[in-house]
Amino acid sequence: MALEREVAAISSQFAVSDAELLAIAKEYIRLAELGLGTDSMPMTMIPSFVTDVPNGSERGTFLAVDLGGTNFRVCSVTLLGNGEYKLEQKSTAVSKNLMTGSSKDLFSFLAKQVETFMKLHLNDHFNEESSTNGEHILKLGFTFSFPVNQTAVNRGTLIRWTKGFDVVDAIGQDVCLLLQKELDALKLGVHVAALVNDTVGTLMSRAYASSSEALTKVGLIVGTGTNGAYVEDLAKVTKLDLSSAAFSNKHLMIVNTEWGAFDNALRVLPVTQYDRLVDGITPNPGFQMFEKRVSGMFLGEIVRQILLDLCTRKVLFAGPSAELTTEWQLDTSFLSEVENDESEDFDGICKLVEKSLALHTSHAERCAIKKIVEAVGKRSAYLAGAIIAGTLQHIGACSNRSSVDLGVDGSVYAHYPNYSKLLKESIKIILGDDEARVIIGRAEDGSGVGAALCALVA
Ligand code: GLC
Repeated sequence: MALEREVAAISSQFAVSDAELLAIAKEYIRLAELGLGTDSMPMTMIPSFVTDVPNGSERGTFLAVDLGGTNFRVCSVTLLGNGEYKLEQKSTAVSKNLMTGSSKDLFSFLAKQVETFMKLHLNDHFNEESSTNGEHILKLGFTFSFPVNQTAVNRGTLIRWTKGFDVVDAIGQDVCLLLQKELDALKLGVHVAALVNDTVGTLMSRAYASSSEALTKVGLIVGTGTNGAYVEDLAKVTKLDLSSAAFSNKHLMIVNTEWGAFDNALRVLPVTQYDRLVDGITPNPGFQMFEKRVSGMFLGEIVRQILLDLCTRKVLFAGPSAELTTEWQLDTSFLSEVENDESEDFDGICKLVEKSLALHTSHAERCAIKKIVEAVGKRSAYLAGAIIAGTLQHIGACSNRSSVDLGVDGSVYAHYPNYSKLLKESIKIILGDDEARVIIGRAEDGSGVGAALCALVA
């Protein structure tokens, strides 16, 4: 009984009311407008310098690399037109040492992965005389999913790291130049043509491949981190010098919002004691406050903090295990696996808790874990839905009865059951019947195809 009561109390702390969702969407619009006018806002609203959205007819072969989470991916992408493409790829884990070491070590490791990939998949190019002479002939789109101060399509200095990276000497440096230097040192004949946030790539690849009639206006990620990009009216990006020749005849700009940093001041976001505990053990306390409630890197840790608290209060588990007291022990796959177990005796949850926390559970304990996971997951989807709705309101996407298309990617969205249903529920609370005109679909390979498309338009 005590356990049931405690779980109900915790779940209610994670419930987000309609009024709170509306307030979040409203605050989002306020902060987005501020960010379009100045660089000094935490929610940075970064112009991507991509001023065209693809229509599916684009063609060509490009390299794409992706650094944004725990893996580094190299791909060669051939755009075939008709929204079709061919892609070859190789992923390599980025070790904790590289994530927190020197920029030289990190970027030379990245260049080395490009070399290995090219030797394997692009041997012809690799052996060409012109490439070994150091001439840049293959264009590369660099998906770099961290906040940068972007000043051109292939120029951007790192503002700060997120998602557990902490390569201090890279801050303030141009990440394209860091990569180009290491590629040149290996004489690869590759030109870093575009710096791409994963959300911008997601938007581009969805626009390229989507068969929907509606125009794609938003790309978003709910994975290790969370963020969104959208198609903005260029005239509204007032922090840019819009009289510059670079913008003549241009009308739109894809903006990377960096909404992970939405409401760092916690004016409208919900705060529980568990959010505070999680924030306190991150390398960037007080920052990325929206991301810390929504994205995969943090959801597992929020759940672990709750379970540990219930254990300490002697209402859950016979006692703690070393695993339960280990920070970051649970990742998002724990949540999706718990949610996926619909069996009567929660056999899956039983095995999972034994495997990841080395703890035995009773049936009542498994029910409790399931309720907690549902509450944390639902809050994530509802908060993400509110920000999406705010973005759509900001650009008037549903005015004139028009439909709008959104591309989504990321492990939470892809693997968490019901996530897309919950997102839509939350959007409906804010947009009402207009929600029916919001089309949300998976964007495949934003960081590969999307980055290639950015390299093409560059
Ligand atoms: C973090 C990064 C952002 C990225 C997002 C999703 O929020 O700061 O640039 O888009 O994660 O990967």
